[in-house]
Amino acid sequence: MKKSDLKKLLADMSLEEKVMQLVQIPGYEFEQDAAVTGLSDKKSSDKVKRLAGSTLGVWGADKAIALQKRYMENHPHHIPLLLMLDVIHGHKTVFPCPLGQGATFDPEVAKKGAEIQAKEASAEGVHVTFSPMADLVRDARWGRVVESTGEDKYLNGKMVSAMVEGYQGTSLKDKGHVASCIKHFAAYGGAEAGRDYNDVELSEHTLREQYLPAYKEGIKAGARLVMTSFNTLNGIPSSGNKWLMKDILRKEMKFKGVLISDWAAIAEMVNWGFAKDMKEASRLAMEAGVDIDMCTGCYGGNLQNLVKEGKVSEKLLDEAVMRVLELKNDLGLFEDPYRGASVEKSLEVCLCDEHRKVARDAVRKSLVLLENMGSVLPLSSKKIAFIGPYADEKKIHSSWAISGEPDKNVTIKEAAKELLGAGDAELKFAKGSNMLLDKTDIGSGVFEADDDSNKELLEEALDIAKWAGEIVLCLGEDIGQSGESTSRVDIRIPAPQKALFDAVCNVTDRSKKKLITLIFNGRPLDLEDIPQKSDALLICWRPGTEGGHGILDVLTGAYSTSGKLPVSFPWSVGQEPLHYDHYNTGRPKPKEGQTIFSSRYLDCPNEARFPFGFGLGYSEFEVSAVKLSKKKLSKDEDFIEASVTVKNIGKVEATETLQLYIRDVAGSRVRPVKELKGFEKVTLSPGKSAKVSFRIDETMLRFFTINNKFESEEGKFVAFIGTDSKTNNSAEFELV
Ligand code: GLC
Repeated sequence: MKKSDLKKLLADMSLEEKVMQLVQIPGYEFEQDAAVTGLSDKKSSDKVKRLAGSTLGVWGADKAIALQKRYMENHPHHIPLLLMLDVIHGHKTVFPCPLGQGATFDPEVAKKGAEIQAKEASAEGVHVTFSPMADLVRDARWGRVVESTGEDKYLNGKMVSAMVEGYQGTSLKDKGHVASCIKHFAAYGGAEAGRDYNDVELSEHTLREQYLPAYKEGIKAGARLVMTSFNTLNGIPSSGNKWLMKDILRKEMKFKGVLISDWAAIAEMVNWGFAKDMKEASRLAMEAGVDIDMCTGCYGGNLQNLVKEGKVSEKLLDEAVMRVLELKNDLGLFEDPYRGASVEKSLEVCLCDEHRKVARDAVRKSLVLLENMGSVLPLSSKKIAFIGPYADEKKIHSSWAISGEPDKNVTIKEAAKELLGAGDAELKFAKGSNMLLDKTDIGSGVFEADDDSNKELLEEALDIAKWAGEIVLCLGEDIGQSGESTSRVDIRIPAPQKALFDAVCNVTDRSKKKLITLIFNGRPLDLEDIPQKSDALLICWRPGTEGGHGILDVLTGAYSTSGKLPVSFPWSVGQEPLHYDHYNTGRPKPKEGQTIFSSRYLDCPNEARFPFGFGLGYSEFEVSAVKLSKKKLSKDEDFIEASVTVKNIGKVEATETLQLYIRDVAGSRVRPVKELKGFEKVTLSPGKSAKVSFRIDETMLRFFTINNKFESEEGKFVAFIGTDSKTNNSAEFELV
């Protein structure tokens, strides 16, 4: 439809119709098996159901088509309904969770995954996905770390923009794509004490330097929606925060798309004590520029009166409605309300071999090898025992893969039998323990805690542990232990599984057999003594549909691991929040020697146990000293080339990720000890070497200075190039 026709449509709509375009109601009001991803016990009136502009949680070509048909017939202007869904790391073919995708340090993996997710979801009638989540995360206690791509703004920015490009393609008229929604704006990951939905207190420079960049990259990539976050920022709930939504999002970031609240976030401004009632909450949200009210009665029950009473201008209302109509128009819904959704199309694309193949490759690239003592991996024994609740567990996706089909996931056991069983290795499997102690481990008990008898489970496991030449322990968080509203103060693996680990260690003579531990997790964990008691330790995250295949590809040596940690793993939860790009303090703890009167813990190291950017491969790489093309950089069109030569000095082909970090030695505000400014993956055969170079220019040195603007400051800088954030391989240069 032409813009002029949209304007005519808007002019022809009643006030009630316009208001209702800004109302989103839960999908279960239309379809009983729709996903429920928020709290809402209310039922909408028939009128609201007839006029609401959008819904969420419905998918399935037949259902979506029937719903759209029914809806448009009943709508006075036959305006199409928008169908939205959380497709955050997979629709039917489920990819590694976003944290695992962050571990690939490969935006191409994220882009390809998003393209496939969009193709599958759009075939099933979905128009908008509530993804990517661009929240920076620094606190492992927060349950939603699993949905982020990690603790670094630069890596997050690259991954987020790649996902937006994958979801949206070059035109939303292309039926294989969906509109992307950047969330949760803003700084939701900074919730105090890692407790979900909590307050966020941030200085403006930390907000701007650390928390905002990834959202900005997503908006630059063209995301058509942004979602407000549940948290307050310095005392003001995001959905009513005019500075954040108007000055930062709309003006500075030039966001022109649709701003949607998170589920019930507008009404929750009453709970926060920011609005006296839902009517005031509605006014505050409209004034902040929130276009769509997700799943509360705020806008539907109050906006008409607010406009009639002159408390909200009709102009403001019309602007919001026009943004919603434009989104529907850009999706081509006025021309084709079904956007090519069909059962045939769904059957053709969902979980097809090609998609599974791409997902399997993503799994391989997401895995992070933290230990591989004596190169015990790849597996080599003829008697291999797979032990643990994850040895044959279908639920290896994240709790957000709401439209996925767990029974289609490939388990460790299935993949081992397929990839190892065909050879001359004998395989045995045992669950060994329950996943959890009991339901209390997963709060609301949304996910069923199994409760087989631990005694029998353990006996069976120890039998095969004694028999085996190699033991693969498959342990980890339960699916219900990460995701929304799953903050934890104890970030260790569940007690029954640690007991199993200890029991297996007690019967294992490490001089005669090897112990490989796989961890399925949605956040950094306190791994206790697991690393030192395992000959190999592989972080698998929530790997999704092709989890078993991707993990066995690596265990059998078909592929070397290449993943790198996108989040710091602590020694203790007491260190949280923990991130590599910290400040030096006035009393940095010396490496050795006198440590009193230094910034330290008496009972724990300061540093991460496994640092951001760390990950081993099956080969070894030598990295030369950093070379700089020159030592002085000027502020005009100038740049320095920083380079190293990397050599594969191992025995197998492998991939290494070279990371460029920069330190601004002194600034008008203190600066982090390191900041990631680039990364480059290089794959080399044994004995081969390659030059890896990075371009450093003045724009990369800008920060939010004491003048409250982004600018660089002359002085000394240090460029580091290495294979993780602990690297000291560096060279100094000066900005003049
Ligand atoms: C949830 C989540 C948000 C999600 C939305 C819709 O509460 O916070 O990430 O997109 O509701 O399901």
